[in-house]
Amino acid sequence: MSTVIYYYTGTGNSLWTARTLAEKLGDTELVPMHRMNTGSNASEADAVGLVFPVHIWGIPSLVRNFLQTMEKRPGAYYFAVAVNGGQVARTLVQLKELMAEDNLTLSAGFDIMFPSNYIPWGGPVPVERQRKLFTDATEKINVAASYISNRKAGLIEKGPMWQRVLFTGLYKLTYDRVKTLDVNFHIDGACSSCGICERVCPVKNITLEAGKPVWHGNCEQCLACIQWCPETCIQYGKKTKNYERYHHPEVKVKDVFRELLQ
Ligand SMILES: Cc1cc2nc3c(=O)[nH]c(=O)nc-3n(C[C@H](O)[C@H](O)[C@H](O)COP(=O)(O)O)c2cc1C
Repeated sequence: MSTVIYYYTGTGNSLWTARTLAEKLGDTELVPMHRMNTGSNASEADAVGLVFPVHIWGIPSLVRNFLQTMEKRPGAYYFAVAVNGGQVARTLVQLKELMAEDNLTLSAGFDIMFPSNYIPWGGPVPVERQRKLFTDATEKINVAASYISNRKAGLIEKGPMWQRVLFTGLYKLTYDRVKTLDVNFHIDGACSSCGICERVCPVKNITLEAGKPVWHGNCEQCLACIQWCPETCIQYGKKTKNYERYHHPEVKVKDVFRELLQ
C-alpha cells in the first residue's frame, strides 16, 4: 500500500499536516499541488490525499484548478484534510461533490483546526492557545491516519448547519472577487528587496519592480507574502501594521518557495 498526498499551503499549517500524516502512514510521497503529477509516483499509489487550507468557507481556487488537471483514478482510495481556523463549513462536502462529477469517490474528509492566518481580521491567537491547537491537531492526525490506513470510508466532516447555510452563500459571492483583492496589499516601511514575497507566491502573482513587490491581480489570498515578509513591511488594508505575523513554527520559509511547487 502506498500513498501520494497533494498539498497546498500559505503559512505552513497544511504542509505540516501533510508531513505529519505522511510520517504516520508510511510509504507516502508529498507533492505540492503546483507540481501536479510531474516527477511523482502518483500513478502507483493506491491512496490519494488532498491537504489544503479552507479559504472563505470553501475550496481555494488553486485547489479547484488542481482537481481539473489531477490524474483521475476511480479505483483509488481518496481522502482529504481541510485545514482551517475553526469554520470548515461545507468545504469537504463541496469537494466530495466536485470529485463525484469526475466519477471519483472521496472516502474520507477530515476537518483539522489550526491558528488562523487570516491577518486582515487580526494577528494569531496567543502562543499557549497555539500550542493547544497543535496538540489537538496531532491527535486528530493520528485518528485520520488510522482511518486512512484501514481504508475506511464514509466520514466526511462538516461544520454546523448555520455555517453551511450562511457561509456557502458568502463563498459563492466572493469567489470571483478573490483574485483582485490584492489591490489591498502595499509596502509600508523598509523593504530590503529580498524577493521572498515573490518566491512564496504559489501563482507567480508578485514580481519585484525597481526592487519592490508588485501584485498583478491574480491573487489566491493565501497571504504567504504578508505573513513571511522578514521586514514585516507588507501590509493589507489599514490595520495589519498592528498585527503580529504567523506561520507554523516547524515550517521554514524555504519549504514554501514556489520553486518547490513546480
Ligand atoms: C483568504 C483566507 C480565507 C480563510 N477562510 C477561512 C474559513 O472560511 N474558515 C476557516 O476556518 N479558516 C479560514 N482561513 C484560515 C485558514 O484556513 C487557516 O489559517 C489554515 O490553517 C491556513 O493553512 P496554511 O497555513 O496551510 O495556509 C482563511 C485563511 C485565508 C488566508
